[in-house]
Amino acid sequence: MSPRRILVTSALPYANGPIHIGHLVEYIQTDIWVRFQKMMGNRCVYVCADDTHGTAIMIRARQEGRSEEALIAAMQEAHERDFAAFDIQFDNYGSTHSDENRQLCARFWQALRQQDLIVQRDVEQLFDPEAETFLADRFVRGTCPQCQATNQPGDNCSKCGSTYRPAELIDPRSTLSGAAPELRSAPHLFVQLEKLRDFLADWVANSGALQSETANYLAGHFLKDELRDWDISRPAPYFGFEIPDSPGNYWYVWFDAPIGYVASTQQWCQRNGESLEDWWQSDETEIHHFIGKDITYFHTLFWPGMLKAMGWSLPTKVHIHGFLTVDGEKMSKSTGTLVTAETYLQRLDPAYLRYFYATKLTPRVEDMDLGLEEFAEKVNSDLVGKVVNLASRTAKFAGKLGLSPEYPDDGGLFAQAAEAGDRIAEAYEECDYARAMRLIMELADRANPYVEHARPWELRKDPERQQELQDVCTVALNLFRQLAIYLAPVLPRLAQQCGELLGEPITRWQQSRTPLVGTPVAPFKHMLKRVQIEDLQQMIEDSKEQDTPEESTPAFADSDQPLKDEPLAEEITIDDFAKVDLRVARVVAAEHVPEANKLLKLTLSLGGEERRQVFAGIKAAYEPEQLVGRMVVMVANLKPRKMRFGLSEGMVAAAGPGKSEVFLLGIDDGAQPGQRVH
Ligand code: 2FM
Ligand code: ZN
Repeated sequence: MSPRRILVTSALPYANGPIHIGHLVEYIQTDIWVRFQKMMGNRCVYVCADDTHGTAIMIRARQEGRSEEALIAAMQEAHERDFAAFDIQFDNYGSTHSDENRQLCARFWQALRQQDLIVQRDVEQLFDPEAETFLADRFVRGTCPQCQATNQPGDNCSKCGSTYRPAELIDPRSTLSGAAPELRSAPHLFVQLEKLRDFLADWVANSGALQSETANYLAGHFLKDELRDWDISRPAPYFGFEIPDSPGNYWYVWFDAPIGYVASTQQWCQRNGESLEDWWQSDETEIHHFIGKDITYFHTLFWPGMLKAMGWSLPTKVHIHGFLTVDGEKMSKSTGTLVTAETYLQRLDPAYLRYFYATKLTPRVEDMDLGLEEFAEKVNSDLVGKVVNLASRTAKFAGKLGLSPEYPDDGGLFAQAAEAGDRIAEAYEECDYARAMRLIMELADRANPYVEHARPWELRKDPERQQELQDVCTVALNLFRQLAIYLAPVLPRLAQQCGELLGEPITRWQQSRTPLVGTPVAPFKHMLKRVQIEDLQQMIEDSKEQDTPEESTPAFADSDQPLKDEPLAEEITIDDFAKVDLRVARVVAAEHVPEANKLLKLTLSLGGEERRQVFAGIKAAYEPEQLVGRMVVMVANLKPRKMRFGLSEGMVAAAGPGKSEVFLLGIDDGAQPGQRVH
């Protein structure tokens, strides 16, 4: 098979903050895939860049009293340093604030204009009267107009995924100043995505570029209704590129960011005497984007739309991963779980994180957890205990002898492991690194008993058995080398150390097929030390600081009275909570109870024929007619209570101090009666 030509990107990190372990999920995931492709002999080019534009950078530069250019240059240096330290190897790392990008943006823009996809309309945008700037979406937070989730960003909701304009948020606040923003009107330019609907719907459903869960999600959410025009300009002041035919207006950061993929490719082409057309306009090139699920919309609707307008290649595959939690919790500065690359590196070897993530990554859009104990356990037992151990227990004896001139009988171990190479390669290709790691560790589990049984440390003492010792070491080191080859995309340094030890660099997957024989073995150098759980704990301590105002909740003026009135209850375990069976229920009937002055009698449906009768103390707050048909949350396993008026078979969940101030809990659209509340 002739080598494939593959262009790979990771999302461009924003230039307004450091790289942290959450970002690293994606860069490590991508880097592993790229290294794997290169080992397979494919032509694979990995490009990325800093994402430098937007209000965030402008404000930050203002606050720090320096130019945006100075700020983004410093950030870029820090990002590149962190990536290099984690062995993330880009073929080109650019910046969206480059000449190449500016020119390419102009070309995309012209194409959109020519296809009559741009319209101008006045937009009322939120303006921060204190900071004197229009507010980028990310500087406004408020309640989602769709699902009512609070503290959501201005462009799309992290809970229900819907997109909206920041002015549509309920009770918006500027995160810059906490001020309530005012609406001001200015002309904006829009891409009319609806005009691309047929193309987009077809691409989403039939191109094979999307995981099926993503394709279904897009079809069911966005493509179901009319596609909204996409607002891609921002009025001054804004840090970005001014739109050539619309002075005083700038391209919105999300317009020039994905074009940054192309600009970075172009820089690479220029350095390597290649032509950009071969990479972005050729059917023979695959384009693979790796992104997080939060930016799905941009990469599966906007970006393909822009490429389509240009007549360029569409993404072959958009690989979408979930979010990282640490010990089961969302990362945060206050708990010390938002660990920067830099802080991590002060205590721990980057190889650990690369391996740990590899054991967790699958092709599905799933969140993944970094459990600290699990992390230490996996690294120590797999890498140190099973892989490096093979070399450390034999290399020092082989140093004097070298490898046997012929590969000895090992009971089929090497051949079996060589055969497993195809299955492991398939798992890497599918981004199922978790499976690849399991397959590799199975091989390690077979190799270790061989060494234990052969006892080289005893053979060494017997001058008569030096030949045997050499054979045992030859087998162990070759099995070690096979593992190092299979792990090379994940652990490039280990592969390099193995190459140095055995005198042949590891560069190709195929090397796993043939054992090395008759060659010298270099003096053994230490390869990987055990993780100390204390180092992990210290890393968390080092990361603890107060949330900065920029990332924490803006100043909503909520009263502290409710908590004063009723302090939080004693801590319970998840098992305690699980005892309470909360269910979604529909009110199918509601009536007054003549004898009771606080109660309404509700008939609740749990789906199908399941009905419950509940007496709820909500008479002062609700009329029976208001309730029929609506969804509530009920405690479904509460022991039935006999009341004067009949049996009450549960409780309806509500908040508030009582009397007319009672608020029934609702549930977002889509929930079904009978579903459990977790
Ligand atoms: O979400 C982010 O961090 C963006 N900076 C990603 C941009 S990816 C792309 F399209 F350029
Ligand atoms: Zn929402």
